[in-house]
Amino acid sequence: SPLCPQLSDALPTSNPQPQCPSAPPPQGWPSWGTQPPAPGGFPAYPGPPGAYPGAPGAYPGAPGPYPGAPGPYPGGPAGVGPYPGAPGAFPGATAGTGQYQIPVVSQKVPFELPLQAGLVPRMLITITGTINPNPNRFSLDFKRGNDVAFHFNPRFKEDNRKVIVCNSMFNNNWGKEERTAPRFPFEPGKPFKIQILCEVDHFKVAVNDAHLLQYNFREKKLNEITRLCIAGDITLTSVTPTMI
Ligand code: GAL
Repeated sequence: SPLCPQLSDALPTSNPQPQCPSAPPPQGWPSWGTQPPAPGGFPAYPGPPGAYPGAPGAYPGAPGPYPGAPGPYPGGPAGVGPYPGAPGAFPGATAGTGQYQIPVVSQKVPFELPLQAGLVPRMLITITGTINPNPNRFSLDFKRGNDVAFHFNPRFKEDNRKVIVCNSMFNNNWGKEERTAPRFPFEPGKPFKIQILCEVDHFKVAVNDAHLLQYNFREKKLNEITRLCIAGDITLTSVTPTMI
């Protein structure tokens, strides 16, 4: 579907330039999770949006904000690679083919993050990026095959209103929308951090370190929810799965 093409479709034909002008641009995006860091690597983490250092995270045990966050690469090369010594890297993930962080370059969407072992309670996915100017909408879709277990969809101009729509899609049919988010924390042109925590029977969503909403599971086969698709009017900075 156009909202969630394969990763290869998400790749720009010309790769984004690394921030270090002297480094040669990577020749195409490294294969997801199967290759060592590209020679020359990627620029160091520029300091994504987030609270002040040491600020409490949105969820207990969640990796805190930056810098010094327990990210995959404490002091290490900011390239593509497995989580060396990362806290709770993915049980069930094979070494070297585990879950990865997007190299830190501005990444256009649509984008797809494979979740090889599917979801599991205590998995936290942190997405940072920037809302485009004059946005209409964007969406995060946790998918089980073609079904969408969790669709998180901020809309900036639905009948001149801003609203967050959550829903699931089974057999190409959308279910009943949940539109109960108490606020709309996204602003055109501004950076954001979204944290989605998989719990035992629901997802929790925090934005910019403040809890926003909860979405009860409709799809219960968590281990079959193996892709996160990100689409719409944003630019991604990072997508980071961790266990808390
Ligand atoms: C539809 C929209 C879909 C999805 C769905 C959620 O109207 O076309 O993209 O957002 O609502 O209920």
